[in-house]
Amino acid sequence: MSEETEKVYTDYFFDEPAYNTHDGGYVPLERMKVPEQRLNVPPLLEPDRETETDIYYTLVAQAGETQLLPGLPTKTWGYNTSLLGKTPVFKKGKHIHITLKNELPELTTFHWHGLNVSGPIVDGGCHAPIYPGETKQIDFTLDQPAATTWLHAHPCPSTAEQVWHGLAAMTIIQDDVEAKLPFPRHYGVDDIPLVLQDRRFHENNQWDYRADYDPDGVQGPTALIDGTVNPYFDVTTQKVRLRILDGANRREWRLHFSDDLTFTQIASDGGILPAPVKLTKLMLTCAERAEIIVDFGNYHNGDVVTLYSDDVPIVHFRIGDYQPDHTVIPDHLVDIPNPEPTPNLPIKKVVMSGMDEEVMLDGKKFDMQRIDAKQKVGDVAIWDITNTNDMTGGMVHPFHMHGCQFLVLSRNGHEPYPNEHGFKDTVGVNPGETVRIKVWFNLPGVYMYHCHIIEHEDGGMMAQIEAFDPDHPKTYDLMDMDTLAKAFAKERGIDVKDLWMAGMDSYEKMGMKM
Ligand code: C2O
Ligand code: CU
Ligand code: CU
Repeated sequence: MSEETEKVYTDYFFDEPAYNTHDGGYVPLERMKVPEQRLNVPPLLEPDRETETDIYYTLVAQAGETQLLPGLPTKTWGYNTSLLGKTPVFKKGKHIHITLKNELPELTTFHWHGLNVSGPIVDGGCHAPIYPGETKQIDFTLDQPAATTWLHAHPCPSTAEQVWHGLAAMTIIQDDVEAKLPFPRHYGVDDIPLVLQDRRFHENNQWDYRADYDPDGVQGPTALIDGTVNPYFDVTTQKVRLRILDGANRREWRLHFSDDLTFTQIASDGGILPAPVKLTKLMLTCAERAEIIVDFGNYHNGDVVTLYSDDVPIVHFRIGDYQPDHTVIPDHLVDIPNPEPTPNLPIKKVVMSGMDEEVMLDGKKFDMQRIDAKQKVGDVAIWDITNTNDMTGGMVHPFHMHGCQFLVLSRNGHEPYPNEHGFKDTVGVNPGETVRIKVWFNLPGVYMYHCHIIEHEDGGMMAQIEAFDPDHPKTYDLMDMDTLAKAFAKERGIDVKDLWMAGMDSYEKMGMKM
């Protein structure tokens, strides 16, 4: 197929009436009138040491200050830096050893969103707290394809607030298949992570999560891209690969470039797509990732190409001198394994319902000590994820699973979107829609699944599944809310009855105990 005849998609695919812009609490993005600043590309995380077979990292969750705006610095949290985190690179097949240190004033967890690692401890969900001053060790070996994944805090029910403080970092998985594809991969030069977030700056340039709290998800009017307000990026190559993460608590990003520049999506959450997809528009829901290649070949030194979300500029690409790049992205990129469903398994049904404090999963709110479902390791099951929201247009809930990468089979019986043919761990479900996915687990463990509007997950739109191996039954010591609440209260020097954590409201208002 010649480049000209290839299909270019020009829509966002999702249901327009369900866009977050229609939400009563929607906070539109506004361009802040501050000078453009160089995009703060997170540095790579240097390993402590590396051998042929093993690699060792130390990750430190820490509090600090970051100069985001003219005037006072903002109090922020990050991994090995004051905001967001340095980027670790994991090679498929290597034994990875990570020292996790908590230097924050409160407990946290280190969740590997998108990694197929065992739950609930290595996975780093709510069952794996690390208390202030503590250090823990995890080890894992990745057996999954090259992908852009991420690390974020996940202590229930304070995930949303800790991510808001800045605890989110990009992570990159590499393998031999991706290494052979003609993609830009010079990190920081033509291979750029873009963590998309939004914040509201209050007095003295500070963030105030509680003041901004909304049970349907906290938003702010200022786009924060890799922790940079109003960023520009100096383009020095004809083609640039962007690894885009919706790292916002609530915001959907509807991305497009000036001049409706066509770009090529090469990867989704869990890895490279079977075939590239050409687009002029891309919508990401919370926690989704997309890797795209942008060809600036029609632009020249001095031009500026702008990336927008809706109609607000979020990154300015300043074009410099570059060498012509004639690489062609092949029509076929990778083979995606597509195992047959295990015979005679019932279809697993999941229902996301409600908005605001009423959010539920399967008519229940999350309980850390309840296992909601079981699936045998290696079994390939069909899951139907339904969003029953019907109030005024409803809303899109991004459904996420720990411990696996799934395949999207259909949306209300129709083909998935053209860029959903690769591995996913998060899928946006429209109101009134059932998204059918294929799920299998490689490792036994307890894994959470939930809406990734983070306030919805904290508010109870979450459940957990045990992936079990009948030949090696296990019992799990699951964390409980009282223990965590007491610890948070103690760390804050207050009585547990005075403790406020975002998700608690949603349980209390529904007359439920967390
Ligand atoms: Cu991004 Cu439960 O996770
Ligand atoms: Cu996750
Ligand atoms: Cu939701």
